[in-house]
Amino acid sequence: MNKSAFVVGYTGEVGKVLVEELIDSKIFSRVVLIGRREVKYEEDTHQKLEQKVIDFDDIESHSSVFSGLDVGYCCLGTTRGKSGKDGFYKVDHDYVVNSAKLAKSEGCKHFNLVSSQGANKDSSLLYPKTKGEVEEELKGMGFDRLSIYRPALLMCNRQESRWGEAAARFLMKPVQAAFPTWITVPTKTVAKAMITATVSPSNQSVEVFDNKAIHLLAGYSKSKKSKDDAEKK
Ligand SMILES: NC(=O)c1ccc[n+]([C@@H]2O[C@H](COP(=O)([O-])OP(=O)(O)OC[C@H]3O[C@@H](n4cnc5c(N)ncnc54)[C@H](OP(=O)(O)O)[C@@H]3O)[C@@H](O)[C@H]2O)c1
Repeated sequence: MNKSAFVVGYTGEVGKVLVEELIDSKIFSRVVLIGRREVKYEEDTHQKLEQKVIDFDDIESHSSVFSGLDVGYCCLGTTRGKSGKDGFYKVDHDYVVNSAKLAKSEGCKHFNLVSSQGANKDSSLLYPKTKGEVEEELKGMGFDRLSIYRPALLMCNRQESRWGEAAARFLMKPVQAAFPTWITVPTKTVAKAMITATVSPSNQSVEVFDNKAIHLLAGYSKSKKSKDDAEKK
């Protein structure tokens, strides 16, 4: 109870559902949403939420917004298609690493990073390499606890139009039905897993959750799936 948290990337698909989970969660009394633009929330859900609009290119001048917050959640990201190669690296590497550095220096104890399946600093491909580099840099920052989530294809009704991803989601629907924890994960499942990890004690300072572990953390079980399937028939 009475914990405080911040979320960067709270307007994105994972970030949005994470904020819903944080609003419902009893353990947080203060949630600071840090982003480049403000969004509207219902009056009654707004009580524990504070929004802070910052310039991520000048993040050091906004250190006070990170001050004294126990838990940090990072759901930042863009695509090469939307932002270009340099723009992708700036958001998915620089903004993430700089947010984590500032959070650490302002007292954050537990940092949660949404990375990606396949993250690998030695990859020759921009996306997995960037994700892998970020993971390594965060591991070196000395958080009391660092939780890294590596989701596979995110299943959601994405507001932004991304044709390739939409096609992949369509093609993966039958795979998701047959093998739910394999190469897809609903954004709600990722958010639930992040909250569960936060409230579960850990004796490891760094923990990495792959796609299946994210499902398990969020409460997925084969017996529950069989029951859900039976109810659908
Ligand atoms: N898509 C997938 O299937 C998939 C799979 C595995 C892992 N991931 C990773 O999971 C993470 C979350 O994904 P998502 O789909 O939830 O992301 P998303 O919907 O694209 O949201 C990204 C967030 O980052 C913010 N952002 C983007 N560019 C920014 C900029 N220049 N300055 C400040 N903020 C910026 C966005 O703010 P605005 O709303 O203001 O743009 C938004 O809050 C990402 O790191 C992604 O790479 C995605």
